[in-house]
Amino acid sequence: MNNQTLPKAELHCHLEGTVAPDVALRLAKRHGYDISRIIAPDGRYNWRTFNDFLAVYDVVAEVVRTPEDYYEIFLDYYARAAAQGLIYGEMFISSDHPQAVGISYDTFMETLNQAADDVEAKYGVHVRFVLHVVRHYGIEKARAVADLAEKAPKRRVTGLGIAGDEAQYAHADFTFAFEAGRGAGLQTTAHAGEHAGPSSVKNAVMHLGAQRIGHGVRAAEDADLLTLLKEQNITLEVCPSSNVCLGVAPTIETHQLSALRAAGVPVSLNSDDPPFFFTDIGREYALAQQHHGCTDADLIDITRTALAAAFCDDATRQSCLAHIDAWEKEHLA
Ligand code: ADE
Ligand code: ZN
Repeated sequence: MNNQTLPKAELHCHLEGTVAPDVALRLAKRHGYDISRIIAPDGRYNWRTFNDFLAVYDVVAEVVRTPEDYYEIFLDYYARAAAQGLIYGEMFISSDHPQAVGISYDTFMETLNQAADDVEAKYGVHVRFVLHVVRHYGIEKARAVADLAEKAPKRRVTGLGIAGDEAQYAHADFTFAFEAGRGAGLQTTAHAGEHAGPSSVKNAVMHLGAQRIGHGVRAAEDADLLTLLKEQNITLEVCPSSNVCLGVAPTIETHQLSALRAAGVPVSLNSDDPPFFFTDIGREYALAQQHHGCTDADLIDITRTALAAAFCDDATRQSCLAHIDAWEKEHLA
């Protein structure tokens, strides 16, 4: 594969989940925090179960404490991703994490919008934000997110989503937030079918009206659901390394990616929380090639699928597609 330059689009990546252990340690030192409990002796993050992972995520988020920290991790992420061919990225953000360290939503978004402007100017990556409800934080917190989705200035915020522990609450409990987001012109995605089975994907579509599904790989267990996803053109934000690390798929070879593609379900490739899962966007594309028979043309197709489902304006979409056409002419003709 022409892996480094093959144009890539990522729809599913969590902001604080881009922070590598060495960076988290540096930020912790900067702010006088001890996070040694979440770092294993080999330098990796120390977690075993999905709930451990969510808890470690929150500890990492706690050391990102200033607007400057946020700016730094954001530019760092997209500098690395751009070097791997990323041309479009949607970043999942929560208002709860900056709020927990005393950063207002206004300041947070001012910082991120400036950072995204700078990423676009420096690296040519188009970035949009998807504001997320963190499911296990509960309904009251979700109400505050819905309020922001409705009332706060949008700029590069184009979507509303829900992440977190699928075992807590039901998708239907968050219908109000998705209605608020849609009413304010936001597009929608929901984590589902990761730790919970196919019915969770159905619920996300039925009760939240989700246009895309985060993960959704367990839809592969239900042929009727695969048909529905295909017919309704609902794109799955597939994150293979995350799924293997969190036990959603036993191995990369047996990951649901091939089954989903074979069923004609639109899929994109994503890194989710890359350093937690020892990956990056380049590696996700490489794994699809090495273990799921994707040719360069298939991978380009996956990027085009992601762009078709991207929460962006048509001018941005067309500019990314033109970049892909030019790359294809040069490398695959
Ligand atoms: N938050 C960050 N990563 C997540 C994942 N893979 N699933 C649910 N919530 C998350
Ligand atoms: Zn996720």
